[in-house]
Amino acid sequence: DCPHISDMCARPHCVPADGGLRGILTVNRMMPGPSIQVCEHDTLRVRVHNKMENSEGTAIHWHGILQQGSPYMDGVSMVTQCPIPAHSTFTYVFNASTPGTHFWHAHSGLQRADGLYGHLVIRQPPGREAHRGFYDLDLPEHVIVVNDWWHRDSPSSFAQHHHGDGDNKPSSVLINGKGFFKGLYNPKTGLNITTPREVFRVTPGKRYRFRVASNGILNCPLMISVDNHSLEIIATDGQPVQPLEVAAFNIFAGERYDFVLTANQSVGTYLLRVQGLLDCGPRFKDAQQTAILVYDGAEFNSSFTTPAPTIIGKILNPINSRESPTEIPVSQLRAMVEDDPALTRTPDRTIVVAMDFKVIDNPRFHNPVLYSTRDFVIGNRQLQTPQMNDISNTLPSSPPLSQYKDLLQSMTCNNDTVTSDCSVEFCECVHLYKLRLDDVVEVILVDQGHIWDANHPTHLHGHGFRVVAMDKLASSIYAKNVTDLDARGEIIRNLHNAPIKDTVTVPDGGYTILRFHANNPGIWFFHCHVEYHVEIGMGLLFQVGEPEDFPPVPPRFPTCGSWEPEPEIPHVTD
Ligand code: C2O
Ligand code: CU
Repeated sequence: DCPHISDMCARPHCVPADGGLRGILTVNRMMPGPSIQVCEHDTLRVRVHNKMENSEGTAIHWHGILQQGSPYMDGVSMVTQCPIPAHSTFTYVFNASTPGTHFWHAHSGLQRADGLYGHLVIRQPPGREAHRGFYDLDLPEHVIVVNDWWHRDSPSSFAQHHHGDGDNKPSSVLINGKGFFKGLYNPKTGLNITTPREVFRVTPGKRYRFRVASNGILNCPLMISVDNHSLEIIATDGQPVQPLEVAAFNIFAGERYDFVLTANQSVGTYLLRVQGLLDCGPRFKDAQQTAILVYDGAEFNSSFTTPAPTIIGKILNPINSRESPTEIPVSQLRAMVEDDPALTRTPDRTIVVAMDFKVIDNPRFHNPVLYSTRDFVIGNRQLQTPQMNDISNTLPSSPPLSQYKDLLQSMTCNNDTVTSDCSVEFCECVHLYKLRLDDVVEVILVDQGHIWDANHPTHLHGHGFRVVAMDKLASSIYAKNVTDLDARGEIIRNLHNAPIKDTVTVPDGGYTILRFHANNPGIWFFHCHVEYHVEIGMGLLFQVGEPEDFPPVPPRFPTCGSWEPEPEIPHVTD
């Protein structure tokens, strides 16, 4: 009673990317990898064979799936599992219990930036969905994953990142792995390289649900609009919201938005635009992409293009600006579900997490192979490293959830336990906060904004949270300013119908306040979803409950140093 689409390669062209030559990683020789679309409460079984020839380990994360009772399947390398070694196999098995628009991606090193990602949609039978929202959402759908892209592999551009003089800005954007990049020539023929763009077909008069996920890699929010059409936002991060009509919305790395588009314009061809902002914006390489929306009956021309019209109307999820009548912060979306301990109970615990870059000589960058001297010492300036509360998170050498739980007692640190002054010294550890099971936790995320224009879309594993407050302050701030403002009663929280999300940005030089009910025992990563930021330490772990509260480790769950071949599972067909 709910549509299954097994789309191993339904797209007519499994051609990667925008024509720029570079190395990529693929799943089943596709990029994005297979589109996984199942029904709520299906058991999802994904067998991952790591065939990477460079011997890297990997792990696959199901971004947005809460993994209630199945923390071992969260797919975070060195947190929930040992990475799957090269030439080995691991099977993820979990209940698809979190309906909505999600995506999957490698959660190991920089692999998701190089192509290891894909759609993940958990549908509800039409009747059941109706009770969640006030819509009949039995609409035809289009599923989209977008990301910023550049024309070399991520390890080499990572080495250049965070330095003003390196070529570290993305040049392009992909829509479902496709796009057209102008100015690329085939050196042999001298001709323009043309690659197909994504095409969405619509029937005049009908409504369509578009499910958009961002596998954003760098500090590049993407602005999405469709020429001549308004977009009716109906969900974010898989959670339905009261419909909001907008002209465009910004999507940050790791976020998802569902919108309804009514094909009510004259029969023709229109462009769906994805415009890169900040590090992808016009100040740098103006990374952008279009897909083609074709009405049935219109003449289709694959090279169709037209100048971008000015956007008139509301823009959801603005960057770096205070609320204006046309800019709607995401905290102003209204959830459909109100009954939630995260809103009705007084928080048992408040944690302030201040995010910024610190100019510091990070010993991790003293690898002369990856980082030239110039990279970390520019004149007297040293490398800027993104951190949380001045601590660089480092992942343990074996996953504390499934192996070496004693590590939870010893090797971790946080603001309450460090003894050195991390505002002057470099502090690095397994950054972990223990939360009591069933506590309501408030997290005050502060962007200290000492470096303007950096955004930190922050993602929580294992729990959805309510975004109860969000604002930008006038200039760069310290966490203490926000705490003082709060003490003076100047921060207003929406404890009524605050939206439920799992990824949210923090306005540059501002704050975002989240509340969640820590009801899912396990160890959950909480991190900036900008790939290079988390890679060098902008993250921390929440341990929810004591190890005794964790569900039992699944039988034969591999540990680091003990991989055994998996028994063959007979292939199942419907
Ligand atoms: Cu999209 Cu920690 O992940
Ligand atoms: Cu960040």
